[in-house]
Amino acid sequence: MSEITEKKTILSGIQPSGDLTLGSYLGAIKNWVELSEEYNCFYCIVDMHSITVRQNPAELRKRTLAQLAQYIASGLDPEKNTIFIQSHVSAHAELSWVLSCYTMFGELSRMTQFKDKSAKNADNINAGLFTYPSLMAADILLYQADLVPVGGDQKQHVELTRDIANRFNGIYGDVFTVPEPFIPKVGARIMSLTTPENKMSKSDKDPGGCIYIMQKPEEIMRSFKRAVTDSETCVRYDPENKPGISNLMSIYSVAAGKTFEEIENEFAGKGYGDFKVRVGESVVEMLRPIREESERILKDKAYVEQVYREGAARASYVANKTLRKVYKKVGFVAK
Ligand code: TRP
Repeated sequence: MSEITEKKTILSGIQPSGDLTLGSYLGAIKNWVELSEEYNCFYCIVDMHSITVRQNPAELRKRTLAQLAQYIASGLDPEKNTIFIQSHVSAHAELSWVLSCYTMFGELSRMTQFKDKSAKNADNINAGLFTYPSLMAADILLYQADLVPVGGDQKQHVELTRDIANRFNGIYGDVFTVPEPFIPKVGARIMSLTTPENKMSKSDKDPGGCIYIMQKPEEIMRSFKRAVTDSETCVRYDPENKPGISNLMSIYSVAAGKTFEEIENEFAGKGYGDFKVRVGESVVEMLRPIREESERILKDKAYVEQVYREGAARASYVANKTLRKVYKKVGFVAK
């Protein structure tokens, strides 16, 4: 057996519907890099999911390529991982249709992301927004993924994927590996700098609440200096009573590689001002090489193209194998 088939398989993806944030870097991509050695990894840019909300076409194209460059610049080696663009592998759309026939209206209606997004986009509650989880299930099941690293907000979708896989397997035999959600502990939930009760998000109304991977150091420092804290003056980890400080501690802990205890000692007797500046600096230093490398990669169009073409070819090979099996099981005539 080759080395690759002995490893467990991982699949994850991020929508190119906005610039990548510090939250997506610390909560997702940084962990993906660490998983590359031990697992057989598929990481995609889920552009088909993005159009469930109206996008500007030129922007979507630009952000998709930028996201690919940022994946690589963050340390995801395209030789070790299969990095690809979802719309390049047509099996995703094809399996998604089949799975939508094994996904119940009631199940989709219960998805909290659907409820949230329909409330936010009341003028465009389209069928794609509703069947979004069937496409996500296709992303995962096509690669027979064992583990799906996601943020806590996506757990419900992975659980639905398991239900769909079990339902299908129950009828046709073991076609799909039933995946498990894999929710990282550290950095799992980076909160907004201005409203630390909410997840850091590109849709944050206050632009200071969200930090972007490609942001200029001056802007990053400005946002950290303005980060919301509390009326004490003590750097102490207590997410319930001190959400702002605890969030800054989580960020600093990952950026500087320090434990909460080390951080509490480092800032004992010092004011919040010093602490916020230090957290800002550590983030600037962590992101600087990623930003510079992304800019360099993006200019090398031939390389970027080579990466996504090879990624799509490798992904298609695996995905089509699963798709053929599914088509056969449901009774389609082989080509
Ligand atoms: N729904 C995920 C999100 O919004 C993105 C996504 C699409 C995904 N397909 C996936 C994540 C497959 C993990 C696996 O964050």
